[in-house]
Amino acid sequence: MKIDYQETTSDLLKRIDIHNKFGGRDIDTWMLDIIKLKKGDVILDVGCGAGKQCFSYYRHLDGQAKITGGDVSEELLNQARLENKKIKDAITFIPLNFNQPFNLPDNTFDFESCCFAIYYAEDIPFTIREMHRVLKPGGRLFSSGPMPSNKQLFYDVIREATGKTIPPMPGSSRYSSQILDSMRNTFSQVDVHIFENPLTFDTAEPFIEYTRASLSEDRKLWTSFFKDKSEFEDIMLKIQAVAETRIKAEGKLVMTKVVGGFLATK
Ligand SMILES: C[S@@+](CC[C@H](N)C(=O)[O-])C[C@H]1O[C@@H](n2cnc3c(N)ncnc32)[C@H](O)[C@@H]1O
Repeated sequence: MKIDYQETTSDLLKRIDIHNKFGGRDIDTWMLDIIKLKKGDVILDVGCGAGKQCFSYYRHLDGQAKITGGDVSEELLNQARLENKKIKDAITFIPLNFNQPFNLPDNTFDFESCCFAIYYAEDIPFTIREMHRVLKPGGRLFSSGPMPSNKQLFYDVIREATGKTIPPMPGSSRYSSQILDSMRNTFSQVDVHIFENPLTFDTAEPFIEYTRASLSEDRKLWTSFFKDKSEFEDIMLKIQAVAETRIKAEGKLVMTKVVGGFLATK
């Protein structure tokens, strides 16, 4: 499946910021508890974006690991490289398109992650086989992505505002089905962990900001929703009105992120 999507730096950083400010739980802490990294590990983060996970591993291991992050977006890699300067380029950031064979040798990494990215792959079994190939025997892959009940409120508000049912996302809607199956077919063992994080908004504004930072991706896919810019702005006004009405009635908006963490062993 061809998925024509590349995250923009500002949208990704905006959503990360909103998770940090309005979320009740920290996903990096949850993930670090599960993956149990060891000092000296050789680590690859696939679809590293601006380097969120790479920097988290670096801090957690006091810099005592060999960490590489790879992404197809030069813009996000440059953002990561800027941050990397603060730690004297301790992490290596490389161009990596997971739709092509990775330019990395077999049996190299102790641990690999792919956070909120695998569902953009055109051929999921191919990408998972590449991730498996570069892991050492006994090495582990952790992937994260949305479960079917993820951010229900977001979809409910848009449905109420537009009167339309949102089509399933061609990427992330496969996460707990096709992608999990493919990992199970390729790896010797896969454990499933669930993370729930309620984001609580007392005003509509941050919810609307989050919606905008999500919809620039979704707009490309929901062509029946957004034909042109003025239609998009009309819909945003309707979404804002629904959000404000709900806050008046209930005092707040709670959007729960429901994330699956799949830990696979080679
Ligand atoms: C939602 S972002 C997640 C980034 C990062 N892992 C994080 O959690 O902050 C999805 C990432 O997948 C990357 N991506 C999309 N298609 C890709 C491809 N073909 N190869 C490698 N990375 C890709 C995007 O550039 C983006 O950085």
